[in-house]
Amino acid sequence: MAEQRDQWNSRTSFILAAVGSAVGLGNVWRFPYVAYESGGGAFLIPYFIALFTAGIPMLILEMGLGQRLRRAAPGAFGSIKKNFQWFGWWAAGLSAGIVIYYSTILSWSWVYLWKSINLSWGTNAEGYFFNEVLQRSAGPGDIGFPIWYLVVGMALTWGSIYLILRKGVRNVSKVVMVTVPLPIILLAVLLIRGLTLPGAMDGIRYYLTPDFAKLADPGIWLRAYGQIFFSLSLASGVMIGYGSFLGKKSEITNSALITGLANCGTSFFAGFAVFSMLGYLAQVQGLPVPEVTASGTGLAFVAYPTAIIELPALNVLFALIFFVTLLFLGIDSAFALQEAFTTGFYDKWKISHEKLARYFVIIAFFMSLIFTTRAGYYWFDIVDKWICDFGLVVVGLVQCIIVGYIYNVQEFRQYLNGISEVHLGNWWVIALRYLTPLVLLTILIVNLYNEISSTYEGYPRWATTAAGWGTLLLFAALGYFLWRKPENK
Ligand code: PHE
Repeated sequence: MAEQRDQWNSRTSFILAAVGSAVGLGNVWRFPYVAYESGGGAFLIPYFIALFTAGIPMLILEMGLGQRLRRAAPGAFGSIKKNFQWFGWWAAGLSAGIVIYYSTILSWSWVYLWKSINLSWGTNAEGYFFNEVLQRSAGPGDIGFPIWYLVVGMALTWGSIYLILRKGVRNVSKVVMVTVPLPIILLAVLLIRGLTLPGAMDGIRYYLTPDFAKLADPGIWLRAYGQIFFSLSLASGVMIGYGSFLGKKSEITNSALITGLANCGTSFFAGFAVFSMLGYLAQVQGLPVPEVTASGTGLAFVAYPTAIIELPALNVLFALIFFVTLLFLGIDSAFALQEAFTTGFYDKWKISHEKLARYFVIIAFFMSLIFTTRAGYYWFDIVDKWICDFGLVVVGLVQCIIVGYIYNVQEFRQYLNGISEVHLGNWWVIALRYLTPLVLLTILIVNLYNEISSTYEGYPRWATTAAGWGTLLLFAALGYFLWRKPENK
C-alpha cells in the first residue's frame, strides 16, 4: 500500500512536540502542588528515581513502538496481536478523556486572562475562584447550567485546538516552535521576578529542604511514580501516536532521554517560580510558607494570583504573563492528547485530519460542558483522579506486560539500538518486565484499597461511581465498539 503517512518536519519538531505534550499544566499546576504536599524537597528524590526507573524506559517503549509499527496506539497494539487493538483503543480513549477535562483548566485560564486586566480576584482569591468564577455548588449532584464565560473559555480552547490540528502533523511541527519555548521563557521571567522579591528564599527553602521522614511513607513514592506518568504523558497513547509520525530511520532513545530530562527539568524549574512567589506571599502576609497556599488544585488560581496582587509594581503585566504561560503550557498537551486518539481513526479508516479534528472538537466541546457547570469543579476533580489513578495505571501495566512478555522485547531492544544514538542495555528490559509493572501494580492496589476504605474527598459514592468508574467503562465500551468496527478497504 503506497500510503503517504504524515511526518514530522524534522527531528527537532518531533522532540519539541513530545516535550510540549509532556510539559503542560502538570508541571506548574500539579508538580509544585504534589511536591508541596509531599514534603517539599524530599519529594524530588522519589521523583527523579521514578523518572529513571520507569519514566524514561516507558517513554522509549512508547516512542519506539509508534515509530516501528507506524500506527497510533490502537493500530500499534493491534499489530502485535489482533485482539489487542481493543486495548489500544481504550488507551487512546483515555487520552480523549483527559483532553476533555484538561480543557477545563484552559477554560479557567482564558477567563483569568480576561480578569487580569483589572485584577478582579482582589485579596480574596480563594473565595473569588470558587464562589464567583466557578460559582461552585454544594456538591456534585447540584449541577445547574453551564456558566457562560466558562463556556466561552471552552470554545476558545477547542477553537485553538481545531486550528492547530486541522492541517495535521506538518502544521503541528511549526506550531510547537512557538508554543513550546514561549511558556518556558515566560516562566523564566516569572522566576526572575519571584527570586528578586523579599521572602523568596524562605519559599525556596521550603521547596528544597527535604523532609526525609516522608520518604518512609510509600504513598509518597507512589505519588512520585504517578506524577512521572502523568507528566511524561505516558500510558495515554500520546507518545505512541507522536512516534508513529517519525521516519523509518529516526532515532529513539536519545530523543526520549532529552524529552524526559527537559520535562522534569521544567517541573523543577517551575517549582522555583511558584515557591519564590509563595515565599514572598508568606512574608507579606506574615505567615509561615505552608500556610499561604490554599490546598488543592487552586494553587495556580488562588495562591499565585494572590501573590501577584501583592507585587509592588506591574501587577497586571505579571498576571497576564502568568495566564498566557498557563495557556501555552496547556495547549500543546491538549492537542497531543486529541491527536493520539484521532490518529487511531486515521490509521483504521483513513479519515482526513481536517474531518477528524472538526468532529472531535465539536463532540468534545459538548462533553466538556459538564465542567463549566456549578458542579464542574467536582466532576473535573473526580474524572482527573480516576483517569490518572486507575486508568493510566492499568494501561501502563498492561502495556508493560504486552511489550515485556508477548512482544519480543529483546528483539525490540536490538531494533532500537540499531537506529538509536544511545544504546539500551538489559536494564531497559528489566525495568519494563519487572520494576515498572511491580510499581504500577502496587499503585493500583493501594489506590483501590484507599478508594474502598474511604471515598475520595468525601464525594458521594454515586458521583465517584458515575464520573470515575463510569468514565473508565465508557471508554472501554467505546474501545470495544471501535475495535469491532471493520476497517475501510
Ligand atoms: N503531561 C501533561 C502535563 O504535565 C499532561 C498530559 C497527560 C498530557 C497525559 C498528555 C497525556 O500537564
